[in-house]
Amino acid sequence: MPTKVILDVDTGTDDAVALMVAALSPDLELIGATTVNGNTAVHNCTENTLRVFDWIGLPLTPVHQGMSRPLARPQMTQLNPASRIHGDLLDLPPPTSARLQPGHAVDWLIDTLLASDGDVTLVPVGPLTNIATAIQKEPAILEKIPEIVIMGGAHDHGNSTASAEFNIWLDPEAARIVVNCGRPIRMIPLDATHRALVSLDDCRTLRALGTPAGEAAARFVEKRIDGYDATQPMHRAGAAPVHDALAVCSIIDPSVIRTHLIPVDVETGGELSVGRTVCDFRFRSGRPANVHFAMDADEPTFVAMLMEILGRTA
Ligand code: RIB
Ligand code: CA
Repeated sequence: MPTKVILDVDTGTDDAVALMVAALSPDLELIGATTVNGNTAVHNCTENTLRVFDWIGLPLTPVHQGMSRPLARPQMTQLNPASRIHGDLLDLPPPTSARLQPGHAVDWLIDTLLASDGDVTLVPVGPLTNIATAIQKEPAILEKIPEIVIMGGAHDHGNSTASAEFNIWLDPEAARIVVNCGRPIRMIPLDATHRALVSLDDCRTLRALGTPAGEAAARFVEKRIDGYDATQPMHRAGAAPVHDALAVCSIIDPSVIRTHLIPVDVETGGELSVGRTVCDFRFRSGRPANVHFAMDADEPTFVAMLMEILGRTA
């Protein structure tokens, strides 16, 4: 039985790969996508998400647009590295069939979860503004959420600051609400995604798949590699993380990551550490463990999953 998922995205290049994996995997049923301010303005995230679904031949996948700015902090200007890694609009044609659905994403999330059998996994891979707003607006959705699988966070090193990963850093108040909501949480942070890189050789293999998803993923990852090599080089040149896709793959095959069940909270008050996911590996806080936090990933398994799934067509 496929796992039902909703992806909450700030579609940029790795969100785009995650959307294609979620849409094409036989192990998942993508109920829909909600867009949120993050890598670029939310209307661009929406346009990019529609381009992806149109490109892979699934234009009827529901897309709803969400929050355009963080809960409590001023809108942060885009980071230069992010614009080179993502850009504002994806290198795909504008949609011809896919259409934005009416209604705010937060309301659609609430209505969909309340009407569900409690079997829809939430997969936020951008800032957590939509998810936090939905929880605050209608707490009754919580009992309907079996798990929240988040791409975000960092223990060892950040990417937006020394302390913080972008999705958490852009809206730390929202992240803190979600992390402490009481539902099962699996967090795929930079500590895992930076250990599962996709290379230029892999892009050649993706393109050779001869599928729309393979071609698009090759384009997006090549752009990511260019951006990473230029602005935040990984431990090997010519390769880049595809953060959001690893989060989705961890639902299909949990063995692709290695997690620790620990207390995790989000710093919202620090000057140098705001947006840090504070991981209490030694249980010093006396608080209960609330997050399955991934500290490692299996790169060959991840890449093989991408090849298998993106080699499919709708
Ligand atoms: O830090 C990586 C995360 O920030 C990814 O989700 C990427 O798409 C950006 O949103
Ligand atoms: Ca993202």
